[in-house]
Amino acid sequence: MKITFYGHNTLLIKVNDIHVLIDPFITDNPLSKDKVNINDIKTDYILLTHAHFDHVQDAEAIAKSNGAVIVSNYEIAMHYQNLGIKVHPMNHGGSWDFKFGKVKYVNAIHTSSFADGTYGGQPGGFLIEGEHKTIYIAGDTALTMDMKLIPLTTKLDLAILPIGDNFTMGIDDAIIASDFVECDKVLGVHYDTFGYIEIDQNEAKRKFFEKDKDLMLLEIGDSIEL
Ligand code: NI
Ligand code: MN
Repeated sequence: MKITFYGHNTLLIKVNDIHVLIDPFITDNPLSKDKVNINDIKTDYILLTHAHFDHVQDAEAIAKSNGAVIVSNYEIAMHYQNLGIKVHPMNHGGSWDFKFGKVKYVNAIHTSSFADGTYGGQPGGFLIEGEHKTIYIAGDTALTMDMKLIPLTTKLDLAILPIGDNFTMGIDDAIIASDFVECDKVLGVHYDTFGYIEIDQNEAKRKFFEKDKDLMLLEIGDSIEL
């Protein structure tokens, strides 16, 4: 499984030779808009954690140019189906075996509305299992006891957690989240994009290191291989 970071919560995952894009937000992301061209992104699926602008901005354009399937909660899926896009609706606690692997939509504590204020269902995160690896994409969320449910059924190889604070967990709560999901290997996301979520990256890495955990922070365009 190869995971490429395109800034904020935007990730391109290659698993079983299929491309899965997460939460595409590039056009108005000041950190990635000059580094990533959405016309160059090739994907088969687009997974959306919730409807906020900083997670779905480029979903419609990329889905249409690629003929990609959008996977999200029921309300978000219907929104895109009405725009003529192929969708696969899910809801919390449900799993599905896609061609690339198994996906489960899990709880997040956050809100979910489209930029025009219309309802975007309840926000979530994803467990993605493929090539004998399993990752957790928390999406935008607070630290929540529901995270303790994940290791009851799933052994994670990587937890992708928001660390920017203000709109989501900050670093200290993300460290506890890593305990809750029983995964010490963390990829940090949702930081530095705007003033509200700027962090001290060295301090964040030090705090994880002191708890015997590994916090990875990728440059935009860089990848990790599991
Ligand atoms: Ni959000
Ligand atoms: Mn967000």
